[in-house]
Amino acid sequence: MTSAGAPLVGILMGSKSDWETMRHVSETLAKFGVPSESRVLSAHRTPKETSEYVTGAAGRGIEVLVAGAGGAAHLAGVAAAHTTLPVLGIPMESASLKGLDSLLSTVQMPGGIPVATFAIGKPGAVNAALFAVAVLAGKRPELSQKLAQFRADQAAKILEEKLG
Ligand code: RP5
Repeated sequence: MTSAGAPLVGILMGSKSDWETMRHVSETLAKFGVPSESRVLSAHRTPKETSEYVTGAAGRGIEVLVAGAGGAAHLAGVAAAHTTLPVLGIPMESASLKGLDSLLSTVQMPGGIPVATFAIGKPGAVNAALFAVAVLAGKRPELSQKLAQFRADQAAKILEEKLG
């Protein structure tokens, strides 16, 4: 899914198999009217294209990169190596190790090349999108307003919940 307008957020994933999780980044951004673009690019299988995409991202108006990968999950780190844009990493839930491998690969960056790492799987995808909106809201008051409304609606929903 891509919202109208030039993309402000670039969403990368190491495999098409990550889309079921990563679509939540795109869908959450769309709820806030934030345009994004999504690409399958692998740190290991398409290293040259990954580097080209990330290197050109800021020049095309991208302000935040979100990268999701699983297993030996180097995509977010490699992206961060090629740009000073904020890079948000989402560990995919892997079949063999339930995403612990992805989490540790994404979060354990050497000092100097930061990746903001989120929770494994869908909660991480949703929160990375919300975090991207928060970053963009720094110079867009309308997005700040939408985030405040989102929190208020979320709280109201929780308080309305009945048990039994
Ligand atoms: C990673 O390997 C991808 O990010 C994906 O999570 C994992 C498995 O990829 P496929 O074998 O499904 O293509 O690079």
